[in-house]
Amino acid sequence: MRTLKNILVTGGAGFIGSNFIHYLFEKDSNFNYRIINIDALNYAGNLMNLNDVEEKWGGKRYFFVKGDICDAVLVHDLFNKYDIDTVVHFAAESHVDRSILGPGDFIKTNVMGTYTLLDAARNYWKISDSSMETGVLFHHISTDEVYGSLGETGYFTETTPYDPRSPYSATKAASDHLVMAYNHTYRLPVTISNCSNNYGPYQFPEKLIPLMILNILEGKPLPVYGDGKNIRDWIYVEDHCRAIVDILIRGERGCKYNIGGENEWENINLLYLLIDITAKKAGIDPVAVKNTITYVCDRPGHDRRYAIDSSQIKKELGWKPLVDFQTGLEKTVEWYLCNLDWINSIRNGEYRKWIAKNYTERETVI
Ligand SMILES: NC(=O)c1ccc[n+]([C@@H]2O[C@H](COP(=O)([O-])OP(=O)(O)OC[C@H]3O[C@@H](n4cnc5c(N)ncnc54)[C@H](O)[C@@H]3O)[C@@H](O)[C@H]2O)c1
Repeated sequence: MRTLKNILVTGGAGFIGSNFIHYLFEKDSNFNYRIINIDALNYAGNLMNLNDVEEKWGGKRYFFVKGDICDAVLVHDLFNKYDIDTVVHFAAESHVDRSILGPGDFIKTNVMGTYTLLDAARNYWKISDSSMETGVLFHHISTDEVYGSLGETGYFTETTPYDPRSPYSATKAASDHLVMAYNHTYRLPVTISNCSNNYGPYQFPEKLIPLMILNILEGKPLPVYGDGKNIRDWIYVEDHCRAIVDILIRGERGCKYNIGGENEWENINLLYLLIDITAKKAGIDPVAVKNTITYVCDRPGHDRRYAIDSSQIKKELGWKPLVDFQTGLEKTVEWYLCNLDWINSIRNGEYRKWIAKNYTERETVI
């Protein structure tokens, strides 16, 4: 069992990172450590996700730094200043469609950024052969997309060969390889988790579930790629966060863990369920909403099916997903219905103006 002291969370203002920070502050009964959140606040990073944490814990147990994980000096300073013993690395360019339009930012953040963090950890922790037994750990958050696409049967296991097929998944695969290479070559204590599609509060509305919820509420067409039969495994974000904590505390160094919701859905069937839930909560006619479904030209290279075998983390760490899909979707729809201000401030640019006024481009930590 590891004891956590000073956790560097990267990308903590994004969707999963901010849920993770909330999870630590609200649900981890062992919480007595400090969290240092570095985030560049790109279009998907949103400090409003953490307003309550900042108010209650800011400057005491929680420290936010606006900065780029590719900035080696800044990252090194953070390790020094906060005596970092644990890294939980979420920061990434994360949207497949954007990676198809322009892979450059993905290569920079997902590959170079991960390298910068690994090197800072290696230098600060002064890794030696005995370090595997010391308290430090670099945990890398990755995706099931590194494994490629499945046919109608089968599951991704931790030993499935990598076969990334989009610029996004290729950069995530590259970062996974770098993490493992630092373990094998320099003995850096690392773990990796490869998770399936997450959903829940604070997800930027370019991703399938929040995009569809908002389009349903606003009476806009519901665009579905190709024949709508691509299959994804969906997990409620809190179940993912709990799995990460289990790995931080009890995970074996040098190991990868697959995390999935055991919850496969064709996109079109997911959309029917989401329409029923959203329409009911918002008092809209679901039949009329279903008529707005519009099939659009498929995403280039669109992977057909992802499905995760989570038996290793279940067996070794006793983790399992707890939130069923109906319940998780209901909570998610409710969150968006109750947080339309969050959506509006992203859309009308108020939030960007506030960031520009309150944060310099490179926040120094010395
Ligand atoms: N969303 C999913 O379904 C899913 C599934 C499996 C794995 N993942 C992985 O989980 C991680 C988080 O995903 P997410 O959905 O929360 O993404 P997100 O896009 O919502 O958040 C990413 C965060 O990283 C920050 N960031 C981007 N570039 C940065 C840089 N150069 N320096 C510092 N911060 C930077 C952004 O500002 C943002 O806050 C990613 O590594 C992603 O690959 C996501």
